[in-house]
Amino acid sequence: MTFLAYQVSEQDDGMQANWIERSLDELPAGDVVIDVEFSSLNYKDALSASGNHGVTKSFPHTPGIDAAGSVVSSDDDAFKVGQQVMVFGYDLGMNTAGGFAKRIRVPAKWVLTLPEGIDAATAMSWGTAGFTAALSVLKLERAGISPKNGSVVVTGATGGVGTVGVLLLNHLGYDVIAVSGKSEQEQALLAMGASSVISREDLMAVAGKAMARPQFQAALDTVGGTVLEALIPQIQPEGAVSTCGMIGGVSFKASVFPFIIRGISLLGVDSVEIPVADKQAVVDKVAGPWRLDALEASTTEIGRGQLGETLTQILAGKGVGRYRLNLSKA
Ligand SMILES: NC(=O)c1ccc[n+]([C@@H]2O[C@H](COP(=O)([O-])OP(=O)(O)OC[C@H]3O[C@@H](n4cnc5c(N)ncnc54)[C@H](OP(=O)(O)O)[C@@H]3O)[C@@H](O)[C@H]2O)c1
Repeated sequence: MTFLAYQVSEQDDGMQANWIERSLDELPAGDVVIDVEFSSLNYKDALSASGNHGVTKSFPHTPGIDAAGSVVSSDDDAFKVGQQVMVFGYDLGMNTAGGFAKRIRVPAKWVLTLPEGIDAATAMSWGTAGFTAALSVLKLERAGISPKNGSVVVTGATGGVGTVGVLLLNHLGYDVIAVSGKSEQEQALLAMGASSVISREDLMAVAGKAMARPQFQAALDTVGGTVLEALIPQIQPEGAVSTCGMIGGVSFKASVFPFIIRGISLLGVDSVEIPVADKQAVVDKVAGPWRLDALEASTTEIGRGQLGETLTQILAGKGVGRYRLNLSKA
């Protein structure tokens, strides 16, 4: 039996990508074969598809760090044929053939059960980006932030993690301030529940200062670099900043003053390698009390033919909201 897979290969004149027919024997060893109904697009997928060797060491390769669908076969009794499941993170789509294919084969310890309240399509509207936003909010709440103590700023607000961050914080009753480099998306961000929008340039004016006026209770940062540098001096006493991304740079400068005079916390977020039980807890939460009906309106569903151009857009920082790949749609 063959199935369609998006294969990226390195050629002398650059990267090339095509949908090709593959067979199950070409997939890596694993316990569970999944019929992938939906995948989702993330910045890391755009890096892998562009030939970034920090993400994917060798090509040809099928990217796709997310996949949701039904079990085709399983060597592990925990999963039954036909069961609705999902995988996000670990090595999927990095150096293991990923979710931009109608079939994946993965270790059972990577597989999550889709609980009542969330189907494969909705799970892939969340995808790695959305689950990372949810984990960021969990970490901020564990650090003591609360809707009554002031606003929370979200950076890279029109991106995948940022969009879900804005929607989720708004859903939980927070005053959300969006930071974006896309002025034309201001109305859309306000419609998603942000109370105001700050331009990336205006925020970055503070970068390099040890301390500034403390105007935010907390920040959900998806950008890193100088954007993170500009957030830390503006956090209120006992506030917190979560950070998960590096589109704005992999390093930043900071003074110790906001940490030792205002007692703020900097919280790293990883959604890729955390234990599967922690991932399942987040998925169960977003299927229940954190269910976001508004997410569908911020999700663009694409078919196989639109994958290449959409990845290029994301790599250029021009993506807006979440992108879900429907593997059955041409
Ligand atoms: N730690 C983890 O486990 C984890 C998991 C998922 C994602 N991530 C990381 O989180 C980040 C965001 O992922 P994503 O999937 O949301 O990406 P995305 O959809 O491409 O969104 C990133 C957003 O960042 C802003 N941006 C783009 N270029 C920028 C630049 N040069 N300087 C400052 N801001 C820029 C843009 O938003 P605006 O135009 O609105 O500013 C863009 O839409 C990535 O670095 C990704 O690798 C980490």
